[in-house]
Amino acid sequence: MIFLSAPEIGGFLFNMGKERLDKILGHLGVGTRKEIHRLARAGLITVDGEIITDSAFKFDPSLARIEVAGERLEYQTYFYLMLNKPAGYITSTKDRDGIPITALLPEELQRDDWMPVGRLDKDTEGLLLLTTDGELLHRLTHPRWKVTKRYYVELARPATPDDVAVFAAGDLELDGEALQPAELHLSPDPYKPDPYKVELVIREGRFHQVKRMFAARGNEVTYLKRVAFGPIWLPADLPLGGSRKLTAEETQALYHAVGLANAK
Ligand code: URA
Repeated sequence: MIFLSAPEIGGFLFNMGKERLDKILGHLGVGTRKEIHRLARAGLITVDGEIITDSAFKFDPSLARIEVAGERLEYQTYFYLMLNKPAGYITSTKDRDGIPITALLPEELQRDDWMPVGRLDKDTEGLLLLTTDGELLHRLTHPRWKVTKRYYVELARPATPDDVAVFAAGDLELDGEALQPAELHLSPDPYKPDPYKVELVIREGRFHQVKRMFAARGNEVTYLKRVAFGPIWLPADLPLGGSRKLTAEETQALYHAVGLANAK
C-alpha cells in the first residue's frame, strides 16, 4: 500500500485535470513544442488574462480562457475531419507500405493522433473520416451500430435485379458469416440509367466487402468511391485529395448515429 502525506494529497488534487501549456496548445494545433515555447517567451500567450512565458506552466484547459496573439482558442477534447481520398494512398497514418492518407493533410490539420474511421482500399476513392476519439471510432465501425456506408460502384458487367434481391435478403456469406442486408440501387441517376454504374449501401465494413460482394455474384468492381458514411455525405465541392474539419452539426450527427448524446 502507498501512503501519501497531506501535502502530497493536496498537490495531487491541485494538479488534477491540469496539463502543460505546450501540450495543451500542441493538442489544439497551435504549433510544435518549439514554436509554442517561442510564442510564450515572446509574451504572446495569456491564460485567464495573465501572460504565461513558461511553456511548462500547468493548468486545466477546460476551465481556462486561453489567448494566443490576442485570439481566443476554443478548447476541444477531440477532433474530426473528412478527406476526399484519391486512389494511390493507403488508409494508414504511418509511412509503411505506401503513402499514408495523412500526407494529404495541410500543415494546419496535421496531428499525431488521427485515426481513420474504417479503411478504404488503396485504389478506392472518396469519403474518409478521421477522428481522435477512440470510442466514437469504435462505434462507427462496429457492426452493432449498423452505420451505413454508401458507395458509388462501376462494374465490369451489368448489375441485375437478382443482385438487388440477393443483397437485400442478406443471402451472401463472406468468410463463412452471413452479411447484413444491403441496398443495391441499379439506377442511382434516373436521368442516365446505366447498369454498369450502381450505388450500394452496406451496414458493416468487412475486408474488401464491396469488391467481394460483387465477386460473389460473378461480377468485378472496376471503380469504387465512398460517397457517404452514416449521416455525412462527401460534399460535391471537396476536391479529390481535399480535406476539412467537420462542422459542429456534422460532428453532432455522427455522435447521435451511434447513440452518444453529445460531441465532447
Ligand atoms: N469495400 C471494398 O471492397 N473496398 C473498399 O475500399 C471499401 C469497401
